[in-house]
Amino acid sequence: MKGVVLAGGLGTRLYPLTYVTNKHLLPIYNKPMVYYPIETLVRAGITEIMIVVGGPHASHFISLLKNGTQLGIKHLAYAYQEKEGGIADALYLARDFAKKDNIAVILGDNPTDADISLQVSRFEDGAWIFLKKVSDPKRFGIAVFSPDEKDKIIRIEEKPKNPTGDLAVTGMYLYDNRVFSYIKKCRPSARQELEISDVNNLYINAGKMNYSMLNGFWSDAGTFDSLYAANRYWAEKNSFPLSSSGLTRGAIR
Ligand code: DAU
Repeated sequence: MKGVVLAGGLGTRLYPLTYVTNKHLLPIYNKPMVYYPIETLVRAGITEIMIVVGGPHASHFISLLKNGTQLGIKHLAYAYQEKEGGIADALYLARDFAKKDNIAVILGDNPTDADISLQVSRFEDGAWIFLKKVSDPKRFGIAVFSPDEKDKIIRIEEKPKNPTGDLAVTGMYLYDNRVFSYIKKCRPSARQELEISDVNNLYINAGKMNYSMLNGFWSDAGTFDSLYAANRYWAEKNSFPLSSSGLTRGAIR
């Protein structure tokens, strides 16, 4: 399986931080944000990776990642997304890189310490998504389950105004090669983007969607609060010496 990290977009929700650099290069504790999704792929044994970049600071990715060997990547490819056409639009740029292979796709602002290697090793065809309970379902793609078969997802609702559940579709997806023909069928949403939830709904309608609950910490670090939460999590996980820094745990919480 090959890997694709999507790191296009302008990160407008993080202005003014993202006027002078790309969102995915902002720090999460002691590493740039984009290291985390790359490490998730490499931990799962995926070492042929394409990163899709965009915006005015795209060249900074090459300065940082170079050919990726320091992160355990064997082959690192880059693609440039001209406009912020959405997650599925960015993914479409990886079609020649993927060739006929299955792909593991991760959003560049989705740091996690979860291990997806079991699903990667079991994956054969169709699509596989990873769900996580959230307290703010209006921000995410939310899984809707069948009233008759409680374990069966019947659709994904993108940022529902009136959510009927709280299981978010995290930004990690396993796809077979039909993903590119499904993206071609999608039309821009109200926010003028090709939505990854529309792609996932095509897999669901074809009866080809599998899912797991995501174990471990996960954050969509695209807002100030979630970026802060991710920083705090990895600082504490790395035993950041709060007492010797002059901060107390009480002060940081
Ligand atoms: O974090 C999980 C959520 O991510 C899912 O639950 C949603 O279903 C999914 O739509 C997505 O929602 P967001 O609104 O948070 O996505 P955002 O626009 O922040 O884009 C996430 C990443 O995707 C971003 O860090 C880089 C990449 N991206 C995004 C856009 C719009 C691109 O590469 N190109 C783009 O044009």
